[in-house]
Amino acid sequence: MNTIVKQVEKILSNAGIEEYKQEAKLIVEAVSGLSSDKIILGFEIKNVDKIIEIAEKRAKSKVPVQYILGFSYFMGEKYIVNKDVLIPRDETEILVLECYKLLKDKKEKIDILDIGVGSGCISCALAKKLIDKDIEILAVDISSEAIKTALENADKLDLIRKIIFRKSDIYSKIRGCEKFDLIVSNPPYIPIKDKNNLQNEVCFEPKLALFASDIDGVEFYKKIIKDACKFLKSGGFLAFEIGINQSEIIKNILVENNFQDIKIIKDLANIDRVIITHL
Ligand SMILES: C[S@@+](CC[C@H](N)C(=O)[O-])C[C@H]1O[C@@H](n2cnc3c(N)ncnc32)[C@H](O)[C@@H]1O
Repeated sequence: MNTIVKQVEKILSNAGIEEYKQEAKLIVEAVSGLSSDKIILGFEIKNVDKIIEIAEKRAKSKVPVQYILGFSYFMGEKYIVNKDVLIPRDETEILVLECYKLLKDKKEKIDILDIGVGSGCISCALAKKLIDKDIEILAVDISSEAIKTALENADKLDLIRKIIFRKSDIYSKIRGCEKFDLIVSNPPYIPIKDKNNLQNEVCFEPKLALFASDIDGVEFYKKIIKDACKFLKSGGFLAFEIGINQSEIIKNILVENNFQDIKIIKDLANIDRVIITHL
């Protein structure tokens, strides 16, 4: 293996970074501008000083590598990330794929509401996968900074014509006449009491994106579910990413609010991760 890659791996593993191999690959590829194939084939690696500087910054500060580099990947696309937005997670790809399955055969216009848009990864990935459809996504967030980043990402991915961005506290700025085929959300779901048990890296992500103020971390689900019927078209879907130990609680809230055919999808770690239902 390339000696620079090895050197970066060593810096990161000495600092106790678990995914040091993947991160070393990411740093070397990003800073050298070479693909992993070219690195393996022994192409000359440029910007070595910068590569080492970034690896050392990551090792010392524990700031997530995606924030240091300024980007992250989601469903094969590159997204700008910064301190104002959550770093997109692999688990969220399950949510996107399930939503896509729900809508892919629809012939009429598709209206989607994404609550808590963050970096824009869910809205952009759905817009991209459903690019040939007549689709309009309304993407909301309480954070103006997050919306700014999501807008930049949508622009970079040439999806601006498919997505409308709006600052809104959940439904506060959604008009009664706006109705959706799907309301999707990956809301903040970590109970605030768990704040001190998180990985160091997570502490660098925006609190607004992480924490719910109640004991079970389900306050956002409750609020979204309670008023969802006002904004869903007849038979419209509701889809959430959920946290550990939340599926039963959320299922009960859905049943109390007359939602049907509740489906739970597990992630690769066998944790209930996505919940889908309809009116
Ligand atoms: C867990 S992050 C999800 C970000 C992105 N959708 C993703 O999946 O990576 C939750 C997002 O909800 C936003 N948020 C928090 N409270 C909100 C509220 N009351 N109304 C709308 N958005 C909110 C946060 O700013 C954050 O961007």
